[in-house]
Amino acid sequence: MDYKIRTRVSRIIVEDKIPVDSEITVLGLARTVRIGKGVAFIEVNDGSCMGNLQGVIVDPARFPILEKILTGASVRMKGKLVISQGKGQKYELAVDTVDLIGGAGPDYPLQKKRHSFEFLREIAHLRPRTNTFGAVGRIRSRLAYAIHEFYQQRGFYYVHTPIISASDCEGAGDLFRVSTFDPTSIPMKDGQVDWDQDFFAHEAFLAVSGQLEAEPMALALGDVYTFGPTFRAENSNTTRHASEFWMIEPEMAWAELDDNMDLAEDFLKHLFRYALEECADDMDFFSKWIDKEARQTLEDVIQSDFERITYTEAIKLLEKSGEKFEYPITWGVDLQTEHERYLTEKTFRKPVIVYDYPEEIKPFYMWVNDDGKTVRAMDVLVPRVGEIIGGSQREDRHDVLLDRIKKKGMTDLESLEWYLDLRRFGTIPHSGFGLGFDRALMYITGIANIRDIQLFPRVPRWARF
Ligand code: 4AD
Ligand code: MG
Repeated sequence: MDYKIRTRVSRIIVEDKIPVDSEITVLGLARTVRIGKGVAFIEVNDGSCMGNLQGVIVDPARFPILEKILTGASVRMKGKLVISQGKGQKYELAVDTVDLIGGAGPDYPLQKKRHSFEFLREIAHLRPRTNTFGAVGRIRSRLAYAIHEFYQQRGFYYVHTPIISASDCEGAGDLFRVSTFDPTSIPMKDGQVDWDQDFFAHEAFLAVSGQLEAEPMALALGDVYTFGPTFRAENSNTTRHASEFWMIEPEMAWAELDDNMDLAEDFLKHLFRYALEECADDMDFFSKWIDKEARQTLEDVIQSDFERITYTEAIKLLEKSGEKFEYPITWGVDLQTEHERYLTEKTFRKPVIVYDYPEEIKPFYMWVNDDGKTVRAMDVLVPRVGEIIGGSQREDRHDVLLDRIKKKGMTDLESLEWYLDLRRFGTIPHSGFGLGFDRALMYITGIANIRDIQLFPRVPRWARF
């Protein structure tokens, strides 16, 4: 069989590139099948776009196979593209021949009705065939392209940082260990695990971030970015935390915190604009079925200037708010999602960049301000989702960095020698941030749970498929 002759449905109904009366072949999955006396209809979806193509079969008695074509079956339809007689679609296919390729029985789980997200998680291997997950899959791919476009156009180089890492970048200890030890007989020496006998002869982990390894590249190439998977063994069972997620991390030489904020704001606006313009059908779907405000939210953000406030100002605003928070607010505590959402949804009604956080709650690599109490950190907060970007100006003064490492109680100085070297030889002011790709997609689509943004999510007590 020659499958190459197939015409993608997107070429017909999105791009509008196929002339009426063309003889075409369409391959896809039957979404609905209606067989009447004189005419039958099969709606086919081939995944190339949101819409289906309806095949119209006159005199269906010609095709006994129709009885076997149920929802979920894969089919081939050949015929002529015509202007639709019916409502709701511009084109339809006047079918000459129809073939059943792979049948699906009445037990096919995705019968035509709305399914709950909870149910669909149990059949993650079939959910790309639903409208919602098809749209998420397409928008994810298009935005990955938009990310590369944004950075490449600005002269950033795409760098690949290791997935197996020897450092705990964020210092939070939420690490997945990489080891080839047999868990039933781990070699010990003087009462301690003898890592020297492990595969790498020292401890190793899945990377929580590519930042530390991206910095040497930025300090040589100028501006770089990573885009890859990162892993966190945080035991947080929230709608916004996944154990495996993709992160984009730009790192800029010769850049301070202001430049970092400007880049973050431009970058988010670029992604939102791209989603609205290049993924219009899928965005329409999200606005209709997932979150009525999805489209408007992005349009408003593109028009807005992000609010920029210091952590100290943020604390004052929250204290003054009179709101009863679950986590009480005082200077020095980390902002919780409820606080982040209050600032973005109630105080400013737009994205907010909070910067200059207390030194004590932020990792070792951030630039220490003259007050000695705060560091040049920034978080970009958006309504509904809270933190979407975390970043900082990096500490580029060797001695200040070394002091801070010691103050944080990080004892394995040897493993950070290489990082200190970057400040010992030709140090350069530099800054960067990380955007959680899956959180960005949550924001764009309006989908409330990260488990429904990743096709095969990994979260505490769940790594099926
Ligand atoms: O704020 P984070 O921890 O920052 C870093 O890792 C820095 N090294 C980035 C840098 O400066 N190059 O994480 C960055 C972003 C967060 O703002 C959030 O969007 C996302 O990564 N993120 C998660 N997304 C999903 N699930 C999780 N468990 C996440 N943890 C962080
Ligand atoms: Mg963070």
